[in-house]
Amino acid sequence: ADALKIGIAGLGTVGASLVRILQERHEMLATTCGRPIELVAVAARDRSKDRGVDLAKAAWFEDAVALASEADIDVFVELMGGAGDPAYSSVKAALKRGIHVVTANKALLAKHGIELAAIAEEQGALLNYEAAVAGGIPVIKALRESLTGNTVSRVYGIMNGTCNYILTKMEREGLTFEACLKEAQRLGYAEADPAFDIEGNDTAHKLSILTSLAFGTAIAADDIYLEGITNISIEDIQAAADLGYRIKLLGVAQRTESGIEQRVHPTMVPYDSVIAQVDGVTNAVAVESDILGELLMVGPGAGGNATASAVLGDIADIAKSRPGAQHVPAFGRPTTALLPYKQARMQ
Ligand code: NAP
Ligand code: HSE
Repeated sequence: ADALKIGIAGLGTVGASLVRILQERHEMLATTCGRPIELVAVAARDRSKDRGVDLAKAAWFEDAVALASEADIDVFVELMGGAGDPAYSSVKAALKRGIHVVTANKALLAKHGIELAAIAEEQGALLNYEAAVAGGIPVIKALRESLTGNTVSRVYGIMNGTCNYILTKMEREGLTFEACLKEAQRLGYAEADPAFDIEGNDTAHKLSILTSLAFGTAIAADDIYLEGITNISIEDIQAAADLGYRIKLLGVAQRTESGIEQRVHPTMVPYDSVIAQVDGVTNAVAVESDILGELLMVGPGAGGNATASAVLGDIADIAKSRPGAQHVPAFGRPTTALLPYKQARMQ
């Protein structure tokens, strides 16, 4: 069968891991997917940077939008980050050409997800984003496909690896907040601007995506009551431990009589609960629904390999899809009301 030609914009922590895996597992992927996956084009800012991978066979683009608009590709993989340009314009340009898109960019989807999903549907293209929420955990697939027919009452969990890593390290090793954050950055877990992690925005972006899928709402990160972990001290963590609790940054979305409530804040969870035992960069997402009951998914939430694994799964799904086949829509059309921010805050 013909090779699946991909272009990758963004060769940082996730992009470089993905390129390495695609090269190391080329034969295996060709067998599993029924066709080879060929990296034909890449874009990043600095061409001279050594990324530890061989890019000799891929065409180099200075401009991600040009790659998305002009390159001869079947799939555009966006791994640059940010809700604005070039991420937004490049993804839109690719979809408008009917080219499938895979992205790990939750900030982009939290702002433009419904619009981009509509363009994808119009053009018969796939918009896959498993890596955007909870790293390698297949939570998007679970909500978008496996739980079809269930009515969801609550989705909650630990959705930011950097924050969970910081809180765990502070408790276990008595290190300062700043030292733990530096280490999370060194390990490639944090966002380019780590304020998004520690102030809770990244969890809010992810929660807004899960809320939309679980409850059929608009994607509205601005409607989320938001508190990050910047005010949590070692003393707070120790005081919680003395009472039998751990502090976790949770994202919670739940059905109420007046609408869907969304909130993100540090929460004291009982020491013997499963979620309290989720340590380090690990994430956990729980979904409560009427047919299945309680589902808890736990796994690596950030880092090059964990994230690239989810991106690769999305690419493989495209490689295996038949031309003209009916696609699962990226997001449903919003039908359910969200509780406005102020009301959610009161509860
Ligand atoms: P990163 O290490 O900061 O890499 C970003 C890459 O994008 C770099 O290669 C950079 O080029 C390139 N880039 C930035 N601005 C660009 C522009 N204007 N034009 C062309 N290229 C540009 O980021 P990352 O950690 O790999 O994250 C990538 C995406 O995955 C983000 O959306 C992030 O939120 C998401 N994500 C990350 C993780 C994780 O654990 N790291 C997990 C899940 C999702 P240069 O290298 O030349 O500077
Ligand atoms: N900065 C994010 C985190 C990356 O720490 O969870 C994964 O989305």
